[in-house]
Amino acid sequence: MHLSRRFSELGRTNAVAAERARLEDAGVLLTDLTDSNPTHFGLGEPAALEAVARSTLRAGCYEPDPRGVPAAREALAERFGGSAADYWLTASTSEAYSWILAVLTDVGDSVAIPAPGYPLIEPLAALADVRTLAYPSHYLEPYGWYADTDAIAAAAGVCAFVVVNPGNPTGAYADGPTIEAVVAACDRGDGALVIDGVFEPFAIEGKARSLAGEDRVVTFALGGLSKLLCAPQLKLGWMRLSGPEAALGPLRAALDKIADTYLSVNAPVAMALPELLELSDGVVQRTRERLAVNVAAARRILGEAPYRVRRCEGGWTAIVDVPRYADVDDLVLRLMREAGLSVHPGWYYDLASAGALALSLLPEPADFEDRCRRLRAAVDAFAL
Ligand SMILES: Cc1ncc(COP(=O)(O)O)c(C=O)c1O
Repeated sequence: MHLSRRFSELGRTNAVAAERARLEDAGVLLTDLTDSNPTHFGLGEPAALEAVARSTLRAGCYEPDPRGVPAAREALAERFGGSAADYWLTASTSEAYSWILAVLTDVGDSVAIPAPGYPLIEPLAALADVRTLAYPSHYLEPYGWYADTDAIAAAAGVCAFVVVNPGNPTGAYADGPTIEAVVAACDRGDGALVIDGVFEPFAIEGKARSLAGEDRVVTFALGGLSKLLCAPQLKLGWMRLSGPEAALGPLRAALDKIADTYLSVNAPVAMALPELLELSDGVVQRTRERLAVNVAAARRILGEAPYRVRRCEGGWTAIVDVPRYADVDDLVLRLMREAGLSVHPGWYYDLASAGALALSLLPEPADFEDRCRRLRAAVDAFAL
């Protein structure tokens, strides 16, 4: 049987993943410092599941609409701006990415993506036979991350620029110069702006900035319940299309065509969306409180040289630099074997610095503090 070359990477594993699998097979319980599944840390909202249960009982009759249940899209427009007709519901933000790639690209085209970044877009691009071109962000202590605007300008000609706001794992909200550079590059090269705003409301040491609704260039703004309601299992995301009106007609028709082909959104969850959006305010507030408490703990335990906690404007991750007593893969392997701690090496996120680790800020505070102390003790022990 022929297997598509898109999957030629399948089965290839790196030393870190192989060791993790070996330890788990041997029954070793690893503590995953990168786990960012909010349902593992009590951040979900039980009332949301009740709302979905109630709406399930109202969902006996199915009236498919390619863009998604109108009342849901009206609730999105009321909350985030634009009109209901500007929104498409999807089963997840990841699915929204794949629709956008299908609409904007042909085989072999390129899209620009941020580095460091969460390794989500590359496999989505690979499935669409699209290449990725990374534009780097650099870190300057104590100010934070800034995107390389020369690299953005040099990438004009790609089909789309992805801006993750705030970035994952950097937590950096896109600043004015970054947005101006991306808009100019989109304008010059006839590309579209894709704003991934799934972490937008989760400001910690920075100020939340929304970029949705940009109208100088074609813009797709993505959001979803996986983060906004800490409910990845509900499988509901959305995108909002904005930009110069003359360019939008064919894009609307193309998105409608994909949406109508899959009709992938679960009607009961979509019907419950107006209520779920109301509930999201409390979830965001509780989650932000936890993120702030945990960043403060990370700074107490890991904030002084030779350790460092980088500026963390928003999102669910803190980047911690640990002293480099070993090469990065050795560090990660030893943390697993000797301390039972699982972390991704920095290269997983395109983090240039070998000692940079991305820690999930979602665990309950006592648990998070314990994780930071175990990490510190383990790395300190490597110095001996
Ligand atoms: C920046 C970013 N965008 C999108 C997603 C995927 O979200 P969804 O669960 O809606 O597919 C993730 C997942 O962690 C993410 O980190």
